[in-house]
Amino acid sequence: MKKIGILTSGGDAPGMNAAIRAITKAALHYGIQTVGIRDGFEGLMKGIFINMKYTDVDNIIHLGGTILGSARCPEFIDPEARKSAVANVKKAGIEGLIVIGGDGSFRGANVLAKEVNIPVIGIPGTIDNDLYGTEATIGYDTALNTIVEAVDKIRDTASSHKRIFFVEVMGRNSGFLALNSAIASGAESVLIPETITDIEALALQIKSQNKGRRSSIIIVAEGDKEGGAMDIMHKIKPHLDDFKLRTTILGHIQRGGSPSYFDRALATRSGIMAVELLMAGVSKKMVGIKADEIITVELKDAIDKQAVPKIEKEELLLKLLTK
Ligand code: F6P
Repeated sequence: MKKIGILTSGGDAPGMNAAIRAITKAALHYGIQTVGIRDGFEGLMKGIFINMKYTDVDNIIHLGGTILGSARCPEFIDPEARKSAVANVKKAGIEGLIVIGGDGSFRGANVLAKEVNIPVIGIPGTIDNDLYGTEATIGYDTALNTIVEAVDKIRDTASSHKRIFFVEVMGRNSGFLALNSAIASGAESVLIPETITDIEALALQIKSQNKGRRSSIIIVAEGDKEGGAMDIMHKIKPHLDDFKLRTTILGHIQRGGSPSYFDRALATRSGIMAVELLMAGVSKKMVGIKADEIITVELKDAIDKQAVPKIEKEELLLKLLTK
């Protein structure tokens, strides 16, 4: 193998740059040229490629976002649209591809692997942590820390003013960020897409909690079935007439910022492993982490299977959370 392509796709995540750095340095160490593809699958279709040098990846390990750029590229599911990507890969002489992103990005990689007949490896990069087979995705730890820091600040003002705050966090289809930020910030309740939200029961809980308290923080995953924080606040308002309610939507602040130690280390270890897998002729695998070991997972499983927060194991913890 003489040349590998690398792209970041879907929502960006802190730590993607650390992965780009590790891949480029590892590949060059083994005598392989790395080609950076701009803006994910969009750049692949347009043929916007950069030959990466050591110096291109200096001083980026601490940066959030992705130096290659990222995009959501729904057009890539169209076989006609993919033809240009296939032609560009062949023309550039790319013999293996590393895709950093979420399950949608891996779906694109999987189909491309068949059409160009080159090996592909996926590295999970998403703040949502919603990929099957790995204990952590790149960006999740940093986003959690960002949320916890924000909630700590909200708590100061919430308790000064005796208010109930509904804080919306990301997670369109997944409650990992909400659940674990609620645990770590000592929130009074958490609403996630994986469970049923009962507005009346939540109102009763808030009322009983607030008998001796000055504030409550309710973390709401944006994908909760009853809606986001604003919807929940409007729905619960008639049940909580005597309370002062506020919402905060943390939004894209959760996707930016300098990656944590954990995300930098995970990205670096995963990047090196991805290069070595391609060199060994391995294809259609995702790199993951389990019990601090870098492991591989079938790309197909990462695409088809659902990652679910282990709520049942946390029963007492959740009871305490809502007491
Ligand atoms: O990348 C995952 C994610 O951050 C989700 O948590 C969120 O729902 C979505 O991306 C937002 O996407 P966009 O930035 O495209 O609006």
